[in-house]
Formats: sequence, C-alpha cells, structure tokens
Amino acid sequence: MDNIFKKYLEGTFPKNIDYGVFEPSFIPHKMPHREKEIGVIAENLGRILLGGRPKNILVFGKSGTGKTAAMKYIGRELEEASRERVNVKTVFINCQVKDNSYSIFETLGNAFNGERIPFTGWSFDRLYATTRKNLDQWGGNVILVLDEIDRFVKKNGDDFLYQILLLDSELEKSRITIVGITNDLKFSEYLDSRVKSRLNEEKIVFPPYSSDQIYDILMDRVNIAGIGGFVSEGALRLISSLASQENGDARKAIEMLRTSIQIAFSSGDNRVEEAHVFSAKTRMEYDAVMETIRTLPVQAKALLLGIILLRESGNVQYTTGEVFEAYRNVANGANLPVLTPRRISDMLSDLDSLGLITAHVTSLGRYGRTKMIEINVSFNDAKKVIFEDENFSRLKNTPTMKQLRLT
Ligand SMILES: Nc1ncnc2c1ncn2[C@@H]1O[C@H](COP(=O)(O)OP(=O)(O)OP(=O)(O)O)[C@@H](O)[C@H]1O
Ligand SMILES: [Mg+2]
Repeated sequence: MDNIFKKYLEGTFPKNIDYGVFEPSFIPHKMPHREKEIGVIAENLGRILLGGRPKNILVFGKSGTGKTAAMKYIGRELEEASRERVNVKTVFINCQVKDNSYSIFETLGNAFNGERIPFTGWSFDRLYATTRKNLDQWGGNVILVLDEIDRFVKKNGDDFLYQILLLDSELEKSRITIVGITNDLKFSEYLDSRVKSRLNEEKIVFPPYSSDQIYDILMDRVNIAGIGGFVSEGALRLISSLASQENGDARKAIEMLRTSIQIAFSSGDNRVEEAHVFSAKTRMEYDAVMETIRTLPVQAKALLLGIILLRESGNVQYTTGEVFEAYRNVANGANLPVLTPRRISDMLSDLDSLGLITAHVTSLGRYGRTKMIEINVSFNDAKKVIFEDENFSRLKNTPTMKQLRLT
C-alpha cells in the first residue's frame, strides 16, 4: 500500500505555507478599503505628535469590518512614529475578556511601571489611586482601546467609563484618550449623558465590505502568504461573494480562504478551485452547528439527546408528552433536576430557532398535540458532542431509550 501521506507530497502546492497570515491575530501592513476610516482616526490621534489633545472616539461597525485590526494597526504605527519624541502607549483591552471594572483598572495600571496591582482583592480607592500614580509617574499619552465595549456596558453599566474619565481629569502628567469599539450601532443610547458627550467626541462607522472589496483583501493575503499562483480567481470571487452575502464579514472570508487552502492541499490538488471553497463552506457550517450544540445549556442538551434517542427508537411522530418523557428519562439518567413540561416546551422552540431541529405540529387528535420533529444534524455527531459534556458521562454506555428507561 502506498504511504497514506503520499498525496500530500505529490502536488506542486507549496508545503510551507505560513497559515499565521490567515489567523485573526495577524495584523496586515495595509488595510485595503479602510484608508478613509484609518485616516480619520489617525488624524485625530496624530495631534499627540503635535503636542495637542485628541478627541475620544467611538468606532462602530458590524462583525468582521476590520475595527479591531485597524485599531491595532494604528496603535502600532503611532507608537512607532512617536518613538523618541513623545511618550505614547496603546493599552488594548478586550472588555469581553476583562469583564469587570476591577480588571480593566488593573490592566491599565499594570501596563506601566510602578506598584503592581494584584488581579483581585484591593478596594476600589486603592486600585484607582495606584493606577493614577503609575500613569503619572510614566507621564505620556495613553490610548486606551476598549474593544467590545458595548457588551461590557450592557452587563455592568457605564460607571467604569465615568471613573476613567474622572481619572483622566485628575492626572497631572499623563492623558488618557479612550477609543471605544462596538458592534452595536445603538451603543450610545446605553450611556448616561455625562459619559456620552465625552466619549462620543468623534464617531466613526466601519461599513460592511462589498464583494469586490473582500476580493481585494483576500488577494492581498494570498500575496502576503506568497501563494498567489495557487489560488484561482474563481475561488477568490466565490468566497468574496459568499462573504458579502453574509454581512460583508472579512473574518469569515479569510477563514473560508484558509479552510479552502487546507482542503486543496490535503487533497493533493495543485490549485485552490471553487470546488474546494464549496467543501470549505460545508465544513465551516458543520463546525458551527457542532459548536452550537457544544455551548447549549445542559438542560437543552438533555432535551436534544432525548429527542435523538426517541427518534432512534423508531418513531417519527410523537406527542408532546412523549417528548417530555424522553427528556425526563435523560435528565433522570444524568442526575439532572427535571424541568417542567412548560419549560421544556419553550426549550424546544429554542432548539428550533437555533436550527438544530424543526418541529411541526401535525394534529390535535385524541392524544393531544402530535409533533413531528426533524433533527437537522447527524445523530451520532450530535451525541458525540453531547457526551463530551461530563454531565452526561453516566449515559455514555446507555445508548438507547429502552436501556435508559430500565436504568
Ligand atoms: N481592510 C482590511 N484589510 C485587510 N484585512 C482586513 C481588513 N478588514 C478586516 N480584515 C481582517 O479581517 C479579520 C476581521 O477583522 P477584525 O477582527 O478587525 O473585525 P472586527 O470589526 O473587529 O469584528 P468584530 O466586531 O467581530 O470584533 C481580521 O483578520 C482582519 O485582519
Ligand atoms: Mg473586533
């Protein structure tokens, strides 16, 4: 038998592709079709180089429109341009990761030399005073980029923004310019007026990319990776048009490109063609569905497992009572509290809206409502993902509904 890796070695496709170029963390040296937006932000922050004071900025835009990448790019350029002239430092905080005001202050304070702030435990007064001291000892311009700021404010309110604005006004030798990045175009509405007017001094919207614009971005990446000759124009056009239908999201487009390259490469083909893109699309959709199952609440997983087992036991149509029964068997088997039929009925609608199942009410006969439930995922793959959750580990070896009833 041939070596199983033979096909990888046969093609003329380059073997040493730097996939890092297609990672979300890669910051390109130029960002096509964002020149205008970057120009506006750079003009504002550039005042620092002239000894002036920039305005605080809010950057708005849907997912994958280049907001995070643009701010990282601008921050890097600004630090480079200001070197040996003025003190400039960009502190980049993802507010979804640092999701409380303590950790935002801690990150800000610890970005500078001085007293170290522990990650938890200090009173707010001490936290605030130390951050202030560390910043003032350094003496310079801080660009505080608060990425995903909308999620933070929806969860915790906007008090911390008020505190940062206050801190800025109390600093003697340093200044803070806030750049807030948000997905939510209505974000300002969540802000208290005293914060809103200060934060909203400059507002920039990153519009979704058109298909042609995504094409240029992809072309650029392909060239950076040095594989221009190995990706067909048709493949790039197809990815661009699919991505522009999906809200003009460059992240999805780049991910689809990377997956297409990997598929072409591992098939031993010499060029990325449209067929590879279609396979990549299917694979990505499949991965997304599995991720949806993986992140379901445990009770919803129990319900889905119940429906799958019911379906595997042979029936195609069931009454709502049977669905509940199936769920209850799973919940009991997994030692979970059993929710009410009402809650389960709501949860069924949730699984339906997530696209994991499709429930049709077929009759209101003698036995109550009968439901026909289609399960839109492979039973085995779904079960595999559900059994990764240790809440269900006791059920791994109880693969049928009949066995479950006996347990
Ligand atoms: N104009 C562009 N040129 C080159 N690459 C781009 C451009 N716009 C976006 N990208 C790339 O697309 C990906 C997504 O961009 P980014 O992470 O900045 O999106 P975002 O607007 O912050 O999205 P989200 O709101 O989901 O956080 C990144 O890999 C980024 O490098
Ligand atoms: Mg982002």
